Amino acid sequence: MAARDPAASASVACAATSHDSSEALGSAEDLSPRSAAPDRVAHSEPAFRRLATHAAARYRPAGRSPYYFARGKLGGDPVFAVLLRDGQIKDGARIVDVGCGLGILAALLMAASEQYESTPSDWPSTWTPPPRRWTLRGFDLRSNAIVAGQRALADVRDRVTLSVDDVRQIMLPECDTVVMLDVLHYIDPAAQTRLLTNAHAVLAPAGTLLLRVGDAARNWRFRFTSAVDCWVSLARQKSWPRFYCRPLAEWTSLLDGIGYSVVAQPMSQGTPFANVLLIATKRTPPER
Ligand SMILES: C[S@@+](CC[C@H](N)C(=O)[O-])C[C@H]1O[C@@H](n2cnc3c(N)ncnc32)[C@H](O)[C@@H]1O
Repeated sequence: MAARDPAASASVACAATSHDSSEALGSAEDLSPRSAAPDRVAHSEPAFRRLATHAAARYRPAGRSPYYFARGKLGGDPVFAVLLRDGQIKDGARIVDVGCGLGILAALLMAASEQYESTPSDWPSTWTPPPRRWTLRGFDLRSNAIVAGQRALADVRDRVTLSVDDVRQIMLPECDTVVMLDVLHYIDPAAQTRLLTNAHAVLAPAGTLLLRVGDAARNWRFRFTSAVDCWVSLARQKSWPRFYCRPLAEWTSLLDGIGYSVVAQPMSQGTPFANVLLIATKRTPPER
């Protein structure tokens, strides 16, 4: 991802993901209990590239660094295009973005709505139309990222609220979709379990957790992913970071135990990363 767009270099670790159509994550067994088809190069679609440029432009008033970061991330990280293409966020969804950084997901959803409303024929015909009437609440520890995101999304503050919070300490708001992209490895295993349980408690019945993690069982790919994460954390915090990672099977088992049904979607094609999108649906208790 970074190689294609120099602006993406700063975003590599934040994303630590990518794709092309040529490589699957592994056998279907690797992705137990259930795996989705490997994604295609959704973020290479010309329509998505225009959308990414449009969304990133929101960050210009926030400064060069947020702007280039947003541009690089949206242009190089496949997960955003895949979420849109597959309609993972529904009309009217109350979204909670945990570890939202700059709020790039909100900027993309805004750009998608605007583009679809103005030129629906430009939307890829095989993609789900973008969600309408969603709202988003984002939380992140980094105040500079939140301030930049607030500037970028100031015109839609009635539907997008970004705040500085430690997600280990707060009760999340009630919602339909929880998004956690590349966040959980920053917090220790006990806090990971508490946060995933907290998300389950506040999700509406059949609500969805969209969780991207690195698969610690993926050998050199995983080591590369971690090295890039370390590099970015060092650059940001000037201290040696500690990460808390798990193999994919452990993530799915943890989620299953909390009460989610999990589908794992490969997210590493075309790059050296070891990431997986886990689409975890809140199970409803069996009727008596
Ligand atoms: C790799 S970045 C991903 C940002 C965003 N999810 C995205 O995909 O653009 C990880 C983010 O998690 C945030 N984070 C880590 N630990 C956190 C915590 N305990 N509470 C809130 N945010 C946290 C970091 O500040 C950082 O912005």
